[in-house]
Amino acid sequence: MATTTLQPTRRQRDGQAVRLSKWRTVAYEVALNGWRILRETVNDFSLWRIIEYPWATRALNLRRGDLVLDVGSGTSSYPHMLAREGVNVIVLELDPERVRWQARKRRATARPGDGRFFPLVASATAMPFCADSIARIAAISSLEHIPDDAAVGREIGRILAPGGIAALTLPFTSGERASFFAGIRRFVPVGRNAFVQEGKAGSFFRFYTLEDLERTYARPAGLRMSRLEGFGRSILNGRYHETRLTRYWRRFVLKDLVLALVVHPLEKRFDRSDPLYVMFTLHKP
Ligand SMILES: C[S@@+](CC[C@H](N)C(=O)[O-])C[C@H]1O[C@@H](n2cnc3c(N)ncnc32)[C@H](O)[C@@H]1O
Repeated sequence: MATTTLQPTRRQRDGQAVRLSKWRTVAYEVALNGWRILRETVNDFSLWRIIEYPWATRALNLRRGDLVLDVGSGTSSYPHMLAREGVNVIVLELDPERVRWQARKRRATARPGDGRFFPLVASATAMPFCADSIARIAAISSLEHIPDDAAVGREIGRILAPGGIAALTLPFTSGERASFFAGIRRFVPVGRNAFVQEGKAGSFFRFYTLEDLERTYARPAGLRMSRLEGFGRSILNGRYHETRLTRYWRRFVLKDLVLALVVHPLEKRFDRSDPLYVMFTLHKP
């Protein structure tokens, strides 16, 4: 007699829409890193990521079985969250130690039914993919650290498949920033809206105007920018992140959940000041 199973097969589940709420993002961090992540984060997880990961997942319009290229993953849990949701992920990162960290993390936390996970040491300035081959690209707070961003813009435009979507989050200014983290850490200006952190080799950081975003990431390959949304305005950035309170940045992550759920929507609705970061999508016709 043939046996039956009530569990849908992986193939049957493929195609289901993927939803990642702010709560679920925090729950995933706990599942992947343990409860200590709420007290002191081991990666870059904090207020901004609680806003960025759900936004990027929605903006990419992801379904189980899709493939996402995550550019500049660092030691982020985002690729693991996507894998848990049945999405296949390529982790592309320049630092081999961080890629090894990602592979170890994957081995330690993988479950049956997860999406596949491809860790890759490569530079976003020369990505080892064919033209028009990748339908979904995420770059969460990573491209601002790459000095040759023009090369990254060209590469995203080259590899994005027709009809594909890239979801990017990047630091923003409407004009010209004279300082960054003034009085907290020393960042020295090295160009218009570009800084390097004193004493920390290679720590580069750049802010973008709308025109910079268009010129660097949209125009080279004729991509269409849309869904532009800001975060981190006068309260979340001005009274918190770019002040001495930033020492609590990696601590007490539950406070970040409250800030993301309560203050961020209020700022979005009522605060017209410059956001610290913007999130936007690029579409290839
Ligand atoms: C702020 S971290 C990434 C944050 C991460 N995406 C997240 O969601 O928390 C920036 C990462 O970009 C990586 N990176 C810097 N230059 C790169 C390049 N040319 N290509 C790929 N990754 C690069 C750094 O090694 C670092 O791990």
